[in-house]
Amino acid sequence: MKIAILPGDGIGPEIVAEAVKVLKVLDLNFETETALVGGAAFEAYGHPLPEATLQLAKDADAVLFGAVGDWKYDTLDRPLRPEQAILGLRKNLGLFANFRPAICYPQLVDASSLKRELVSGLDILIIRELTGDIYFGQPRGRRIATDGHFPGAEEAFDTMRYSRPEIERIAHVAFQAARKRGKRVTSVDKANVLETFQLWKDVVTEIGLQYPDVALDHMYVDNAAMQLVRAPKKFDVVVTGNMFGDILSDAAAMLTGSIGMLPSASLNDKNQGLYEPSHGSAPDIAGKGVANPLATILSAAMMLRFSLNQPEAAARIEQAVDKVLSQGLRTPDIYSDGTTRIGTVEMGDAVVKALG
Ligand code: IPM
Ligand code: MN
Repeated sequence: MKIAILPGDGIGPEIVAEAVKVLKVLDLNFETETALVGGAAFEAYGHPLPEATLQLAKDADAVLFGAVGDWKYDTLDRPLRPEQAILGLRKNLGLFANFRPAICYPQLVDASSLKRELVSGLDILIIRELTGDIYFGQPRGRRIATDGHFPGAEEAFDTMRYSRPEIERIAHVAFQAARKRGKRVTSVDKANVLETFQLWKDVVTEIGLQYPDVALDHMYVDNAAMQLVRAPKKFDVVVTGNMFGDILSDAAAMLTGSIGMLPSASLNDKNQGLYEPSHGSAPDIAGKGVANPLATILSAAMMLRFSLNQPEAAARIEQAVDKVLSQGLRTPDIYSDGTTRIGTVEMGDAVVKALG
């Protein structure tokens, strides 16, 4: 088995190093190979996703990814910006199914921005379609408007689109995931306004007929945003498109106390996957040794479960993280009175120690 390690920018290298440290003590049989990606690759090779990095990712069973991006690249042409690396990996590897669990650890309920009773026991799974929608739809660009409110003015446009097979396959992923947990799927759309999401709703409904044991309901995205902060525990599996999923998953992340805790998995139809923390590169705290590595360590656990067929090892990592939290060890993002503030490396060491 081969794991491609792509640390990226900002806090990426620090947090990925801790996850690799944890993986190595498990004594499993895999090889790793590391490559530059994002701003780091741009600096070295003039491109955020060099051909060699893409090839490494394609040839691997799984990719462990840190984060990309820094404000200093905001003025580059879009194709050269660090974010294009992650978008390019998703597209080129066909990673259409993005799993973003939002679990509130009992040890962290008071770190949530919501009241304890609303989040205590929270365990929801957002499944975001990741290779379609307005993120990738063509045509897109800038031009001089010939119609609309201001003919003759500069305008920009993107295209929101989904095909039936794209919706079918993500719906199957959601229903199958729901079968393994609370047996409920909420499909989030904007069918009251958008053609794209009327098709989405119709297709998800059709696929749902094949899963009579799973309860399906539909919710408009604005209402879903509200329900997520009103009564988040009412959700089980949420399935939605690329852009709505981007937004809702960040909101859901904060319910759990810290986005620094949340792993994610992006899978293709061969169960090849890219695993990354749900948070970004946090350039403001990069190099300070304070970033929370737990989201990346938990992403490595997801990788063992989904792509490397090592569910026991995955469970061991998850139990070790739980234990470390119970010991009161906290990076600054989850620190509160009465707990012990530690840094990135100490957190990685604590997980290693908890693995026994
Ligand atoms: C995410 C990120 C990315 C996205 C960016 C970095 C392109 O926000 O993974 O959620 O919008 O998908
Ligand atoms: Mn995002």
